[in-house]
Parts: sequence; structure tokens; C-alpha cells
Amino acid sequence: MRTQVGIVGAGPSGLMLSHLLHRAGIDSVVVESRSRPAIEATIRAGVLEQGTIDLMVQTGVGGRLMQEGFRHQGFELRVDGHGHRIDLHELTDGKSVMVYPQHEVLKDLIAARLADGGQIAFETRNTGVYDVGGDPLIRFTDKDGQAQELHCDMIAGCDGSYGVCRQAIPEALRKEYLRIYPFGWFGILANAPPSSDELVYARHDRGFALISTRSETVQRMYFQCDPNDRVDNWSDDRIWNELQSRVTGDGFRLKEGEIFQRNIVPMRSFVCEPMQHGKMFIAGDAAHTVPPTGAKGLNLAIADVAVLAPAMVDHFQRGASEGLEAYSATAMRRVWRAQHFSWWFTSMMHRQDGTSEFDARRQRAELDMILHSRTAAKVLAENYVGLPMAAQSTQSLN
Ligand code: DHB
Repeated sequence: MRTQVGIVGAGPSGLMLSHLLHRAGIDSVVVESRSRPAIEATIRAGVLEQGTIDLMVQTGVGGRLMQEGFRHQGFELRVDGHGHRIDLHELTDGKSVMVYPQHEVLKDLIAARLADGGQIAFETRNTGVYDVGGDPLIRFTDKDGQAQELHCDMIAGCDGSYGVCRQAIPEALRKEYLRIYPFGWFGILANAPPSSDELVYARHDRGFALISTRSETVQRMYFQCDPNDRVDNWSDDRIWNELQSRVTGDGFRLKEGEIFQRNIVPMRSFVCEPMQHGKMFIAGDAAHTVPPTGAKGLNLAIADVAVLAPAMVDHFQRGASEGLEAYSATAMRRVWRAQHFSWWFTSMMHRQDGTSEFDARRQRAELDMILHSRTAAKVLAENYVGLPMAAQSTQSLN
């Protein structure tokens, strides 16, 4: 097999890259270890930044998003049971976000790729990338057990935190930055009506809580927990009591219901630099992970390929390599901005055990600043709706 761009991973970055390349007449093959049903059922975050929404709509994959997604023009910060609205729309000159789960984005991208004749090899095993500095090759075992070789002009490593592509950058040439948080999130899906029209980010002495939504009948909620805790330790009653205690106040109370899904996510910040080695370019979680507060992960993956796709197109159509040479540095700038934001929002909202009294009071003062300074609220809002995509990328994708 031969293609122009061999893409490892059918997550947000791999599928969006394949879609954008196709629109410019560039051929790609996506190689993915999981099955289509598994990908389409995995529950992840659900907030799309303005730039992600715009890119989906402009490139023809935003139809269902526009019909079924929920537009949110603000969110609530609850501090010790008192609510304060962050008016995203007003603070960012009309920008907003949409709540539309990541697996719905993936369904839309997979459907679009297949409808356009795109090739996605699902359920592959033993995937490896070879000779990325010379004549790039992806080897894998397909779902029928056949060994396959995919020769390509370049490789996109979109295979997530635990994939093989990042590991193919020699250790001496990559630098990795890692921060592990001493807490995790306990996430639930519940059959219940929405408790609020907007998302609620709550800070309380018992710890952080987040009230999000999936539909009129299904709600998504999270609360800060010990990352080593186990879901079996938590009965429905205990979960509801914990959530209620962190958000109740000012007449606000959660509407409860049957909990049908529960998971614990650990939290870390991670960056691998550079995002290129020879003719291989890594994107999304293969290159970076953010803690979930503010839901930047998917948006950052999409922003990476919004830079990478036009650079690849320039290379194939005009023989111009500046875009590819600048890819890592261009993408890194936004990556570090999102790293800072995700760390900051996380640090400000979570209970920090073992820190000094000074740090505890400083944390309260920081929240006080957001609640009472319009300038500070604007910084939060601008980052939350997302930085503009790199100018070069949006021009050539339209
Ligand atoms: C969701 C997840 C987040 O991390 C966040 O900041 C907001 C919403 C969600 O899953 O709905």
C-alpha cells in the first residue's frame, strides 16, 4: 500500500487531519487499533471552543453539531455555594462555546471520511513506524490478521499519550515535561434533567465539582477525588451527597437520578517537544496532555492539525517546506498557552491538600480577583472560548 500521508490514530487529530487533507486533494490512510463502535462509544469531554466549531462548520462536518449541540454563552463559578456568572459572550465580544461530546465529533468525522471514500483501517495490531527520516513506512497487522506495509511520504502521529509515534523520536532529541496532580476526577453519567442552563464549576472546601450536561435527560458531572480511589467504593447515595455538598447554596440544588456510568480520571500536564522528527509530525495527545478543567484537550488536538494540514498541503502542492519546518514551533506556542490555562484553572478550583495556609489564602484571593475584576474575568473568558487559530492555517483551509 502507498499513500501520501500515513496517519496513526483515528482520534480527533488523526481524523480531522485526514478530512482536511482530503479537501485539498491529498491522499491519506488512517491506521487505528480500536474498533469503530469502541471509538464511537468512549466518553470524553464535551466542550468545543469557537475555533473548533468554526473549523467543523467551514469544512462541512458541522451539520449535526449545529442541530444537536448546545450553545453556551456563559458558565457559573460557584464558590462555597455562591454562584457568579462568567458571561463569555459579553467578555469576549460575542464568542461562546458549544457542549457536544467528543465521541459525537468522532462519529461525524468517521462518517465524513467514509462517505468521501477515505480509508480507515480499524482494529489493527502491532503498529510500528519505521525510517521516519528517510522513506517512511507504517507496518501493522490488519483486522483479518494480515501483515500490512503502508509506504508514505510522511507520517502523522496522532496516536495519543500511549502511542508508538512519540517513542519513535529518539530520546536524545525530545524533551518531555510532566506534572502529575495529587487528585483526580470522579466522573458520572446520570439519567436526570439538567440542574442548570449553563455549566457549573464549583470550588468548595470539600473539593472541586463540575456540573455539565449531555442532553435533556442525561447529565455529566465530576468531582475531585483521590486518583487512587476506586469506583466501587462509591454508592449512588454517597456520590450524590458528595456532589450536593460541594454545590448546594443560594437555593441551588442538583436534580438527582440513576447513575449509569462512573469512572475515575487521573490528572496530568505533559508536553513533548519538538512535535516533529524527520518526516513524522505528532499531534494531539501524542504530543501533549492537559488536565481536564476547561476541556482543552480535544480543542488543542484540532488546533494542531489546523496548522499541520495546510503546511502539508503547501508541501505537496507547491513544494514549499517552510510551513512544515515551522509546525512544531507554531503549534507549541498555543500548546503552552493551553497548558498554562489548564494548570491555572485547575489550581485555582481544586482543594490543595498539604499546601501552606498562605497558599490557601492566596488561592482564595485569586478567585476573588476573577469574581470582582472584569479584567481578570476577561482573561478567564478569552482562554475558555479559545485563542484564535493561527492566521496562516485558517486562511488556507477556507
Ligand atoms: C466537560 C468536561 C470538562 O473538562 C469541562 O471543563 C467541561 C465539560 C464535559 O465532559 O462535559
